[in-house]
Amino acid sequence: MSSPSITRRDFVEAASGLAAGAVLGVTARPSFSAPAIVIRPQGRNAAVASANGLRAVQRAAELLEQGVDTLDAAIEGVKIQELDPEDTSVGYGGLPNEEGVVQLDASCMHGPSKRAGAVAALEGIKTPSVVAKYVLLYTDHILLVGEGAKRFALSFGFKEENLLTDKAREIWLRWRANRSADDDWLELPEGENPIPRPTGTINCNVVNAKGEVSSVTSTSGLAWKIPGRVGDSPIIGAGQYTDNEIGAAGSTGRGEANIKVCGAFLTVEFMRRGMKPTDAALETLKRVVATTEPRLLDEQGRPLFNLNFYAINKRGEFGAASLYPSRYAAFDGKEARHYDTAYLFEPRQRRR
Ligand code: GLY
Repeated sequence: MSSPSITRRDFVEAASGLAAGAVLGVTARPSFSAPAIVIRPQGRNAAVASANGLRAVQRAAELLEQGVDTLDAAIEGVKIQELDPEDTSVGYGGLPNEEGVVQLDASCMHGPSKRAGAVAALEGIKTPSVVAKYVLLYTDHILLVGEGAKRFALSFGFKEENLLTDKAREIWLRWRANRSADDDWLELPEGENPIPRPTGTINCNVVNAKGEVSSVTSTSGLAWKIPGRVGDSPIIGAGQYTDNEIGAAGSTGRGEANIKVCGAFLTVEFMRRGMKPTDAALETLKRVVATTEPRLLDEQGRPLFNLNFYAINKRGEFGAASLYPSRYAAFDGKEARHYDTAYLFEPRQRRR
């Protein structure tokens, strides 16, 4: 497929005179410059991702080294996790909704071309991040959902497949058996543990030596969700966000808490004001705490859930922060490895 920098939309815009300059009747671009500071690239490739993205940042780094575009590199990395049936938080093998159906969300942004694409509640397609890239590349839209997103993917030759693995079905059946003493399903046998409610996801943000930035997030969403529930991952500005002048950020964890603060966008905005990536992510988390409703706070005002933000700037400096201690993966220009996140609170006994 074509690179994000050479697309049909460029051609259509040029041909129809819809480019910004043509509409305004000027040849030079108007200068409504957003950045408050100038961040110069440092001439090195770097990537930051959620903890399950170690292979993703490694793969992205290899591809950046070969000169591959930043968005293509990030998506190739994320695809490893989407196709891995052992990762029950993403793509094929992801945990299903309450009816046992796997519904996937993903979004991406390509800094150099200032484009975005996303899909939500997509069923039957293993790699939603790639479908999101196709939305970015081949449509004038940003977000396709449900049946329409699936038909769009099928029209490009994506294969419809059963995404519910035996492993994910087994976990779902155990959750259903333990859901309520009041329903029609028999309880779990004595001694079997109830199933927790994970919100795993992968986010990956990359920068190349020229300072070009892209970001991708992909997830199967909150396990056992109400069918049709969409989290933060496919929401541009929440699940991930890129501004090629500044950097990129993305999130994993309780999507509902992130959507309310547009956390990826906010983190990039904090970097725009001069904050380092880790500080920017921490500042966003403070906003999350401030906007959390009382029913989701403990007696000390600490959230009953975890949320993580990962950030990288145009120089390739990266960091991550979470409400409670967590891990993340990064490629620093030399090697890919795990790091500890900065965090706001010491661990709680039990989280939602
Ligand atoms: N952060 C993933 C979700 O809430 O769906």
